[in-house]
Amino acid sequence: MDFILYEVNGAVGTITINREKALNALNSQVLDELSATLDAVDLDTVRCLILTGAGEKSFVAGADIGEMSTLTKAEAEAFGKKGNDVFRKLETFPIPVIAAVNGFALGGGCEISMSCDIRICSENAMFGQPEVGLGITPGFGGTQRLARLVSPGMAKQLIYTARNIKAPEAYRIGLVNDIIKAEVDEQGNVVKSAKEALMEAAGKMAAGIAKQAPIAVRASKKAINDGLQVDMDQAIVIEEKLFGSCFETEDQKAGMGNFLEKDKEKKLKVVPFVNR
Ligand code: CAA
Repeated sequence: MDFILYEVNGAVGTITINREKALNALNSQVLDELSATLDAVDLDTVRCLILTGAGEKSFVAGADIGEMSTLTKAEAEAFGKKGNDVFRKLETFPIPVIAAVNGFALGGGCEISMSCDIRICSENAMFGQPEVGLGITPGFGGTQRLARLVSPGMAKQLIYTARNIKAPEAYRIGLVNDIIKAEVDEQGNVVKSAKEALMEAAGKMAAGIAKQAPIAVRASKKAINDGLQVDMDQAIVIEEKLFGSCFETEDQKAGMGNFLEKDKEKKLKVVPFVNR
């Protein structure tokens, strides 16, 4: 792969979009490689993914403007579909995906972060959908996911004005769950860069997810995602079925058995969740 790095540490996989010279902009090759990387994730061992961009400056600065600049209407529609197919694969990926947003998340960058389950960012992060300033609409799901994630009114304001927002505003409107600061000592020296601190926080969160019962985590993701697409009467049925599906698994027996164990020493033991 030229533009994607993938590494696994225990039960956590980290995907890095690695096209730093172009601020990790998404061209067709990046999208194809991302799709192939997701297909190759070993779901028997990996229980949570982190998605980030190479370097300290940019998460993803959008779809590749150079590649898009000469597209015909039909080609542009196909390019939108290519991005949407990969982002949907990410959104519906069986295990949780945390976006560690290390800088610019503009256009397709904001859109890919919104396809992840959870977004945390560094202090220097900047979010936005600047597409109308380029004469196009957001094309990788931005009109849909931003409206659902924040609110239709706020999404319309951001998209119509093409205004980019900094991390504190993204936090205030609920676009990111947390802002991670660089660590500085008493003399003002940087001990941990914004990116290092962000990746450490993302790693901790991912490890915290990975130690929970994997079947239950996957079922929770599916229940939330699928339930949001339908009305409440259908949504609670989706939950009932997924709730039921966790029972009689080894993890449910171990998890509940552990809680009910009378012996305090045994009760404190780590539950050996097994993905079955
Ligand atoms: N596509 C292609 N190349 C990009 C890019 C993009 N989206 N964003 C940055 N780059 C490239 C630049 O062309 C430049 O390349 P060269 O060194 O070869 O000239 C390199 O990355 C560094 O960029 P800058 O010199 O511009 O860096 P900067 O610090 O001055 O500015 C920036 C950073 C504000 C992010 C600026 O690069 C920028 O505005 N980028 C475009 C952001 C944008 O509009 N994104 C939306 C794209 S449209 C989209 O995503 C549609 C969709 O929904 C599918």
